[in-house]
Amino acid sequence: MSDRQVPSRLVLLSALGLAGVVAAVGCVASQSPVNSKDQDILTAQAGTTLGVYSGRHYNTDKQLYARFTASTGIKVKLLEGKDDALIERLRTEGKASPADVLVLVDAARLDKATDMGLFQPIRSAALQRDVPANLRDSKGRWFALTRRVRAVVVNPKLVNPASIRTYADLANPALKGKLCLRNSKSVYNQSLVADQMILQGEPATRQWVKGMMANVTQPMFTSDTPLARAVAQGTCGAALVNTYYVARMLSGEGGATDKALAAKLRMVFPKPAHVNISGAGVTRHSRNAAAATRLIEFLASPSGGKGYAEANNEYPLKGYGNNPILKRFGNFQADGVSAEQMGAKNKAAVQLMEANGWS
Ligand SMILES: [Fe+2]
Repeated sequence: MSDRQVPSRLVLLSALGLAGVVAAVGCVASQSPVNSKDQDILTAQAGTTLGVYSGRHYNTDKQLYARFTASTGIKVKLLEGKDDALIERLRTEGKASPADVLVLVDAARLDKATDMGLFQPIRSAALQRDVPANLRDSKGRWFALTRRVRAVVVNPKLVNPASIRTYADLANPALKGKLCLRNSKSVYNQSLVADQMILQGEPATRQWVKGMMANVTQPMFTSDTPLARAVAQGTCGAALVNTYYVARMLSGEGGATDKALAAKLRMVFPKPAHVNISGAGVTRHSRNAAAATRLIEFLASPSGGKGYAEANNEYPLKGYGNNPILKRFGNFQADGVSAEQMGAKNKAAVQLMEANGWS
């Protein structure tokens, strides 16, 4: 996801010549029958081109945008890039930005963009219905689209998977020299620490981080996939990774070697599990807020969201989905922490990590 090196590129998705035909999608359109005033609004939106800045980059995302265009007549002009670069670009462009929708990965980044005033609040009955309250901003500035879990992968030859039931178990001295971690620059780790601060309180989280640091004897990793490989190869016995990295390895997308390595791993979901999100909001200076809202409604809907989640082996907003690779991991029990609270705790989490040796 965000750690893949993919160059930014502009992709204009085709108009498909359907501007005159508007099918019913989303909040406004879901009211039936559509009265003439609503029909006028829909027809007006049909000629719109939405600028979408996205920290995601999967070909299947583009198919989803094309589906949206086919059913609404609203075109999508997509700019993909790294989350932080897109945030900076939007800030610099200000009112002149062509972006109407900003899609970001991780609650901490959504919070950062919110603090910078890059989103405008929107009201949508469809989003209230489709996005659980703990997975959206309380003021309507962003909404989750997919879920991912930061879980533990274990090499069962080195660490008994049953010995890890909670995140706290990673601080058990029995894991000394066996636990490997990604560095504290990782927003995924920052959000996990923020999540634990909310659930367990600061003193317990500090002790937990200290305990883990005592167990880590190898250099910190810079991304999740090498971390998963190191556990599979036996260089490490256990590590924290996002579920979709292991699912991607298991899918064979990264080659036969990774697939064989991933087969050696056991996925352990700590109880309860830390869930993070990818999400989107309407940009502050969007002149097409109604059409932009419809796109977010489509992406958060069970139908659109399914495609968005499957593209990256993520979980939908509700339930576990039908991805056969994810089913092999079993089900997790989400800890229910609010993504908004988690984002707000980011700075405190970074400070706690730095003060306790997480480099
Ligand atoms: Fe990622």
